[in-house]
Amino acid sequence: MELRGLGYIGIATRDVAAWRSLMVDVLGVGDSPGPPGANGDTLYLKMDDRCWRIAVHAGEDEQCAYAGWELPGEEEFDHAVAHLQRSGIKVRPGTDALRAARGVLDVAQFDDPFGNHHELFYGPMVDEFVFVPPSGGSGFVTDGVGLGHALYVVPSCNDALDFFGRVMGFRVTDKFSWGPNGAVFMRSTPRHHSLAYIDLPIPGGPGLNHFMIEAKSLEDVGRAYDRAMDARVNIVNSLGQHSNDPMLSFYVQTPSGFNVELGWKGLMVDDSNWTVRTYTGRGEMWGHRGVFMDDIADAKVG
Ligand SMILES: [Fe+2]
Repeated sequence: MELRGLGYIGIATRDVAAWRSLMVDVLGVGDSPGPPGANGDTLYLKMDDRCWRIAVHAGEDEQCAYAGWELPGEEEFDHAVAHLQRSGIKVRPGTDALRAARGVLDVAQFDDPFGNHHELFYGPMVDEFVFVPPSGGSGFVTDGVGLGHALYVVPSCNDALDFFGRVMGFRVTDKFSWGPNGAVFMRSTPRHHSLAYIDLPIPGGPGLNHFMIEAKSLEDVGRAYDRAMDARVNIVNSLGQHSNDPMLSFYVQTPSGFNVELGWKGLMVDDSNWTVRTYTGRGEMWGHRGVFMDDIADAKVG
């Protein structure tokens, strides 16, 4: 399966307005009218020349409705769907309505063995004009590497590695090992990880723990941090650098309970010289003080 990273992400929430306020007013992504087939109850958000990258759907639940994994074209998409089916995964083919809502040439839906919702797609709509971030920032790192990454809490990293590695074809970049528990970071583009998972019993899990978007400049992250402080949103990790990416980032809680990370200068892996690394520490070079990393530390000793 020749995945090209996290192409889009969909959220279901009772409070679309709060999501817009966080993503646009604080973190600096842009509004989009969405694809021509868009539902008026859905908020579409832009990060680059794609029609949209983040969709926020009005609903009764608070959850990640889907992570959209991109394929290069029709042939790779068809192969990926067939591969999932051969692997025993129930795949729901896209309908005309779903293709229109996503603004893609084709899409298929499936769940991973842990109950998280995913989609495969190819052929996303792009705009004919250059994206100008509403915050006046320099934009987001997406070209060839997807919108960012998603980290899930799963029951077992070994079981997750079997599915995301053997079935979906993500490659291991590095791992954290904490006795019987750990975390695994996987890539399908040069981005250090597009997908990660952790098998510690931390609050909010299982399911999506956070997704990450990457600004093109340090100043954009700093200004968004100021706006987050001014807006009094819940900053669950202060500015810091993880030991493996080593992205400079901070995390805020979204209206749906899980978190969003805004980062800068995450590592891009060179496959020609990369070897898998293992870490055993807290996972920070510095910073990231707050309940998020404290929850992970508490779960490790508990
Ligand atoms: Fe992250």
